[in-house]
Amino acid sequence: MADLAELAVSKMAPEQAAAEWQRLAEAVTRANRSYHTEDAPEITDADYDALKRRLAEIEARFPALAAGSPTQEVGAPLAEGFAKVRHEIRMLSLENAFSEDEVTDFDTRIRRYLNLAPDAPLPFTAEPKIDGLSLSLRYEGGKLVQAATRGDGEMGENVTANAATIADIPQTLTGAPEILEVRGEVYMSHADFAALNARQLEAGAKPFANPRNAAAGSLRQLDAAITAARPLRFFAYSWGALSEPLAATQLGAIRRLTELGFSTNPLTVLCDGPAALIAQYRSIEAERATLGYDIDGVVYKVDNLALQARLSFRSTTPRWAIAHKFAAELAWTRLEAIDIQVGRTGALSPVARLTPVTVGGVVVSNATLHNEDYIAGRDSAGQPIREGRDIRIGDWVQIYRAGDVIPKIADIDLSRRPEDAQPYSFPTICPECGSEALRDEGDSVRRCSGGMACPAQAVEKLKHFVSRAAFDIEGLGAKQIEAFFHDTLLPIRAPADIFTLAERDAASPLQKLKNREGWGERSATNLFRAIDEKRQIPLNRLIFALGIRHVGETGASLLAAHYGTWAAFEAAMTAADPAAGEGAKPKGNPEWQDLIAIDGVGPVLAASVVTSFHQPAERAAIDALAAHLDVQPVIRRVATGSPVAGKIVVFTGTLERMTRAEAKARAEALGAKVAGSVSAKTDILVAGPGAGSKASKAADLGVEVINEDAWLALIGG
Ligand code: IVH
Repeated sequence: MADLAELAVSKMAPEQAAAEWQRLAEAVTRANRSYHTEDAPEITDADYDALKRRLAEIEARFPALAAGSPTQEVGAPLAEGFAKVRHEIRMLSLENAFSEDEVTDFDTRIRRYLNLAPDAPLPFTAEPKIDGLSLSLRYEGGKLVQAATRGDGEMGENVTANAATIADIPQTLTGAPEILEVRGEVYMSHADFAALNARQLEAGAKPFANPRNAAAGSLRQLDAAITAARPLRFFAYSWGALSEPLAATQLGAIRRLTELGFSTNPLTVLCDGPAALIAQYRSIEAERATLGYDIDGVVYKVDNLALQARLSFRSTTPRWAIAHKFAAELAWTRLEAIDIQVGRTGALSPVARLTPVTVGGVVVSNATLHNEDYIAGRDSAGQPIREGRDIRIGDWVQIYRAGDVIPKIADIDLSRRPEDAQPYSFPTICPECGSEALRDEGDSVRRCSGGMACPAQAVEKLKHFVSRAAFDIEGLGAKQIEAFFHDTLLPIRAPADIFTLAERDAASPLQKLKNREGWGERSATNLFRAIDEKRQIPLNRLIFALGIRHVGETGASLLAAHYGTWAAFEAAMTAADPAAGEGAKPKGNPEWQDLIAIDGVGPVLAASVVTSFHQPAERAAIDALAAHLDVQPVIRRVATGSPVAGKIVVFTGTLERMTRAEAKARAEALGAKVAGSVSAKTDILVAGPGAGSKASKAADLGVEVINEDAWLALIGG
């Protein structure tokens, strides 16, 4: 045993790992009990940390052991990870711009939204976009009380103990607002990253791929002592909850944060418009290599905070900011093969298998080839790309990647093409199920026509269903889904099967899950428990989990926020009919119009959801699933007491003091539902000059009709 305790985890055979894990797990359980329950610690904190670290190391290498870890039962910092915290104000991401035109568009869109003349002043700040991970620091009475990662924007991880070890993060502030949430980026400098990787290699540990990964890995250590030993830094660039404003402008607020003791980026400047923003972008790009830390673009923000408040947010990004990204990094390598992957919507996606090459510090061995036109050297409109050069197996290809984006192929080198290289012929039969693979008119993607009968589609749909942003069931990841999908004793072929797994296992006269290889009493029970925990699911997650084409996380959240409950959503999707009232204007019945009136939901997304609900097999699978769930309604984030909360409002005619988009966004932020047409359910019609049939219809129905001034007075100006 003594020998085993000395053995490096990387050298352990599975049975040795299991034995050592048992010893450590028992020691941790004993130490937990003596510390927490009996208040009589038997070992030092350092020894305890060493036990936990080794246990974590074993569980990282042999994940099957983690499933039954006793540490899960004792407040469990190890296996459960960090406690979750809800952000009082959501942590958002940024919209990206990749070209100068998109920067000009950004300015134009804002002017249009705010109804500003083209020559009205509209200054912006420009600052580097730090390539790290965002962190929110909460100070109460000048004391750091909480640090949380972004997580999904709503819920982050509580990393207070770790953040407190970062020198750039003050523990106390003087003269700060009573409540102050400072947001910014944790990052690692190039020099510190190189030194850390050298130490990792010396210790026989895996080096980090890039400074961002090193920063994330270091901050998210369960043991704050490890974080403390890693040289992390922090730039403050934004804020969340505040008991009083920091300043009237973005730049003023950043200066205030600097005065309070935060590190803020010295390259932050004020620009008077798109031309100045682009000049600043070029200047920062030129300095990029000498900054000593990774940046991946320049962030532009409307400087005037009152305008920021008016512009407010879309579902996941502010309207008042944009990230102008740098062009991607490039490298040449050889294309060894082209594989076809069949996705959850049946799309046949060609993937380039490459001779591994380092691009921007990350080893790349796969790249997307998009679709058959892209391989053939055409764009979706049939126009030549790469001057019409097609891509062949054996070609030398130029790879590029930007940030976390999947690597792509930019170009090929014809001078190095092997003589026998053949043009690639894209399959017209699904390689997974043999069904015909078809291309709809106007669609660049060829799709398997097998539907749920295609095992690749079914399994990908299931993997999506359990993925992190969807049901996120602990112990049921892509690997397990793959195994259960092909299992004959206890198969999972559709989402509803997940929720009958325990019942089927209990009722089965055949071998139980707990007696199978790789499973045990504890891991089987844990899985069933993890599944049970997800029977309660927020509406947006469920909608996203359904894996409907075009419905991503953002679309799902928009739908959930609009309909509020599963019953309302399901009823509306069942009723919505885009073809109702043939020839009528606007097209479709009221449920369809209501659906496409949601800001951010276009007709393509809308048609895709409605089709799913009307397709018998898909609908049956959705209904079977819903029967097992308790879907949590959306809790609207509105100031209670708003006089328009819960009201259905329609705007018609010309609005003179704000644009239609702003009126709608503000009404929704106050909890009102904005509809496109007047019905008996409408509470208020806001009618500007030129209001036509809607005003007379409202009068007929006895709906309250008010003008824009009265509306503004109602919502407080
Ligand atoms: S502002 C409400 N400024 O980029 C907007 N973000 O891609 C808050 N980031 O999640 C973000 N440098 O983690 C802002 N100077 C900067 C930034 C920055 C890096 C990160 C941040 C954000 C992500 C979006």
